[in-house]
Amino acid sequence: MTQIFAHRGYSASFAENTMGAFVEAEKAGADGIELDVQLTKDGEIVVIHDETVDRTTSGTGFVKDFLLKDLLKLNANKKGVKKEPIPTLSEVLEWLKTNKLICNIELKNGLFSYEGMEQKVIQLVRTYGLTNRIILSSFNHYSIVYSYRLAPEIETAPLFIEGIYMPWIYAQSIKAKGIHPNHSAVSDEIIVRTMANGIAVRPYTVNKDTDMHRLFKINCTSFITDDPVKALRIRKLY
Ligand code: G3P
Ligand code: CA
Repeated sequence: MTQIFAHRGYSASFAENTMGAFVEAEKAGADGIELDVQLTKDGEIVVIHDETVDRTTSGTGFVKDFLLKDLLKLNANKKGVKKEPIPTLSEVLEWLKTNKLICNIELKNGLFSYEGMEQKVIQLVRTYGLTNRIILSSFNHYSIVYSYRLAPEIETAPLFIEGIYMPWIYAQSIKAKGIHPNHSAVSDEIIVRTMANGIAVRPYTVNKDTDMHRLFKINCTSFITDDPVKALRIRKLY
């Protein structure tokens, strides 16, 4: 059965990358969540998509220029009524202990090479005893290779914007157990052949009914969507 991962939580209806969006994804029945991490000035791992806080919070500036204590004062639920802080990764991992969700942590270390990000994330995942429920992904494939070296027990998956020729060979070469491609950059044939070669395929970000049907039909490993409720409703047809 194709698993459904809630992209930045249940972000179609709740503020992205907030505890509210994660809790609602779990309540809805998603199999997993996807979230993004950045590093603060004092080296804390926080859950936010952009390098700056401008788009998603009440503040302005780069995440890397904030101390955690100041970052936590911002409201990450700009459109909602209830104020919500940016979550720390620890807070999310603590909450994951109370449920069975899989968690895809995307290491946002592309624009800035956050020194020590991989070590810090891995240490937290190990501390919370969640190594078997975490998938580390990144567009920065050096980071994927490095993460595997540091923690071969944690699953890794490179992200792709463009198509790639025989992605299973690439994945195997960097010891990744999965690939996370842009859904419009992979054909059914590539998905099926990749899975047949033992590599999980979790396309992103799948929001249209037709695209969901397509992936359920070929029993794709999983996909990442803003709208897990819609995906769950469509999955019932299969
Ligand atoms: O992990 C899949 C997807 O989240 C990658 O793109 O920009 O939404 O982080 P983005
Ligand atoms: Ca992401």
